[in-house]
Amino acid sequence: MDETTINQAKSRIPMIQTGQALQSLRDSGHSLPTAIGEVVDNSIEAKANNIRIRLDEALNSRGKKHVHQIAVIDDGAGMDSETLHHYLVLGFSTRYMRTDTIGKYGVGAKLAALNFGRRIDVWSRERNSDPWLHVHFDLDKAIEEETRGEAIGLDAPVAATPPEELKDLLPVGSGTMVLWSRVDRLEEGRLAPDFNGLRLDLEKELSRIFRYFIDGGIAIDINGKRLIAYDPLLLMEDSWADVVLNKHYKQASEGEKPGRRGAKHFPSIVISDDAVKMGGMGGSSARLRVTLYPKEVTRTRGLGGDALAKELRVRENQGCISFVRLNREVSYTNVPRILPSGVLDPDRFIGIEVAFKPDLDQFFGIRNVKRGVEPHGELREAIRERLEGSIAQARKMLEESWGAVAREHHEEEGEHAAVAQAVKDVDVTMPKGRAAAPESPEDAQRALTDLARDLGYEKEEDQKLYIEKIKDLPFVVESVNFPGNMFISTQHLGNKVIIRLNTRHQFYRDMWEPIKAISERDPGTVSGEEAVRTARRTIEALTLLLIAYGKAESMHPNPADQYEDLTTYWGQFLATLLGKVKNVL
Ligand SMILES: Nc1ncnc2c1ncn2[C@@H]1O[C@H](COP(=O)(O)OP(=O)(O)O)[C@@H](O)[C@H]1O
Ligand SMILES: [Mg+2]
Repeated sequence: MDETTINQAKSRIPMIQTGQALQSLRDSGHSLPTAIGEVVDNSIEAKANNIRIRLDEALNSRGKKHVHQIAVIDDGAGMDSETLHHYLVLGFSTRYMRTDTIGKYGVGAKLAALNFGRRIDVWSRERNSDPWLHVHFDLDKAIEEETRGEAIGLDAPVAATPPEELKDLLPVGSGTMVLWSRVDRLEEGRLAPDFNGLRLDLEKELSRIFRYFIDGGIAIDINGKRLIAYDPLLLMEDSWADVVLNKHYKQASEGEKPGRRGAKHFPSIVISDDAVKMGGMGGSSARLRVTLYPKEVTRTRGLGGDALAKELRVRENQGCISFVRLNREVSYTNVPRILPSGVLDPDRFIGIEVAFKPDLDQFFGIRNVKRGVEPHGELREAIRERLEGSIAQARKMLEESWGAVAREHHEEEGEHAAVAQAVKDVDVTMPKGRAAAPESPEDAQRALTDLARDLGYEKEEDQKLYIEKIKDLPFVVESVNFPGNMFISTQHLGNKVIIRLNTRHQFYRDMWEPIKAISERDPGTVSGEEAVRTARRTIEALTLLLIAYGKAESMHPNPADQYEDLTTYWGQFLATLLGKVKNVL
């Protein structure tokens, strides 16, 4: 050590370079919802019943739209002058390291604010008769002071009225208003989606994060719109899913138990509800619940991405576990390798929640920023083990339910309806047929009535109904029982081709039926041997179909001339159809 270093070492220096340290701490990894969540946490702990969040948009210096200030107002207990003075002190908490509160590190409010803004203002009062007391912190001023060599401090609260534009939002009695301003990290297009996108995302996240409080009656609103609880387990009454499902299915059906607000409740099926005990922790346990969404949500296979699924946020749910600490969700995330054989598409219809108390914080890796919680070690293992059984069961039940719906649908709609419907759209762009239509409209009508009768519709009204259903289809394929050796028979009605498959034919029984039977079973119940046997028999049958066709052609003295067009068109149309019709079953 040279002389100057020795001299410096003798005098003490402050351990924190406040301004610069705060500048660095701005990047604490908050998203807007988790940051605002910190302020809402504090309001909830101050026993607020009404929490108002207000985002304000303006143009920034580069002429770009951005949210420039964010206010959170509550009607909680408020702070006395001493507490308010310390509100902005990093590390100050009136509940430091307690195990029965949401906050405990004394950094939440500060880090969250600085993550987005460069200035924080707080007004608070404990009684209607008290004046509003005000404190603030300005990051740029602090850095300036520090550069000048001054120590950074916080002035004592002074009586001051909150800004005029926000006065309407203030509570009548006690309460607190936190205002983040000079927000510089929400520029539209560059750092954030547009205002509406930002607001919607915030609504979505906060309505899930604080669902238990919202469900309990605490009102949270964002720019005047009150949040409705979103429960990823789909168990909570009158929550977001109920609202969406009631709208979708119009009204409650008679005799069903209505929810609190008179709408029908669509609860999930509880697959498991277990206490996951941690040995050696004096009996601490987490509560693990797994649910399967109701039939009104799971419906038929393949609808997991449609409009209703989107509104219900089903896809975002895929593989996500909701971790809830003291009724406040601290994380909603995919935990790697915790579900049996990874995350599968149908898992979006399964709700998973792990609820725990702060005595398990260390097992969950709780951090000072309420984000990215994941169970560790022993606890992770215990959760994984439980999930193995219940997720497998939920998946199996889902497959069974989809299988049953598909079978019902087939019986109702006819075996080939789905494909015929899909072909309808493709046919528009294919060459028009040349086959002559029947002589008279009566003949065409009779052909349709005959088909309806072949299908077993005896009553005239049933026949009419069936004919109405196939009215617009260019191709109608039906499996019917008719005598003779023919496997398919075609009938041309001008605007429509009717194709009958003979269910009595050996080909139908050896190929069609076994594949159809397997396609309607639940994947878990089909053995590999069965599947392979059926696939082999199918190849055999298809090959024999071709051989029989060749043999049939050979019965003509000049097959090349006679059938060339037929085989060319057949191949061409088959390719077009295969290209456009996919996965309709
Ligand atoms: N909205 C509020 N109403 C009343 N007191 C509050 C409010 N927000 C914060 N406080 C007080 O400020 C302290 C610091 O808040 P914070 O930095 O979030 O730390 P923590 O929540 O971990 O205690 C809290 O412990 C609480 O005493
Ligand atoms: Mg806090």
